[in-house]
Amino acid sequence: MKLRYFSHSAFEVTTNNGKVILIDPFLDDNPTSTVKSIDVKADYIILTHAHGDHIGDAFKISKRCNSTIICTYELANYCKSKGVSAHDMSIGGGHNFEFGRVKFTIAFHGSQTPEGTYGGQPAGVILTIDNVTIYHTGDTGLFYDMKLIGELNKIDYLLLPIGDNYTMGINDAVRAVELVNPKIAIPMHYNTFPVIKADPNLFKKEVEQLGKNCRIMQFGESIEV
Ligand code: NI
Ligand code: MN
Repeated sequence: MKLRYFSHSAFEVTTNNGKVILIDPFLDDNPTSTVKSIDVKADYIILTHAHGDHIGDAFKISKRCNSTIICTYELANYCKSKGVSAHDMSIGGGHNFEFGRVKFTIAFHGSQTPEGTYGGQPAGVILTIDNVTIYHTGDTGLFYDMKLIGELNKIDYLLLPIGDNYTMGINDAVRAVELVNPKIAIPMHYNTFPVIKADPNLFKKEVEQLGKNCRIMQFGESIEV
């Protein structure tokens, strides 16, 4: 399976049998993404929360590709009100889709929709596809239950924010890596805007000092996972 990083919190997973799943596809208004929404396709779109830099172009892509959006209940209702199809879930729940398993976790953050309405609770998401487990934390501060999440789910790839201000910064993110204990940590949610400027190489260095692996994905890069 392939993992592509667009920048910010936006990723694309392509399964071994060709299904495409986007996570938080913030592309058209994302100054660091060279890939725009018209360039991608999706069978499913997973949203961690309702903020504009995470919903991004989900509705546009969903309407063009007839993709199902997977997210928490309140956000799913918001999606449906925009005329797209959504599969609603809640935190702590998992579901087996045709491409693999999706489970939502807690995240400490907000989740107001771009229109100012309640978007439900923000979430992280654990994907198990083709025997690989990816934990995309969404936007969150550090929380100790990450240790339990790591123990219960055996994370291969941990995608976590390092940009500070709205989420964990580098120091807390390094502690998050320690708690989750993934095979590989991949930093996200940094350098999109001046307020979340962070040096991924510093994060990598500190993660490696723990004896853990870090892979900095370049914006637009695709890797085999
Ligand atoms: Ni957010
Ligand atoms: Mn965000």
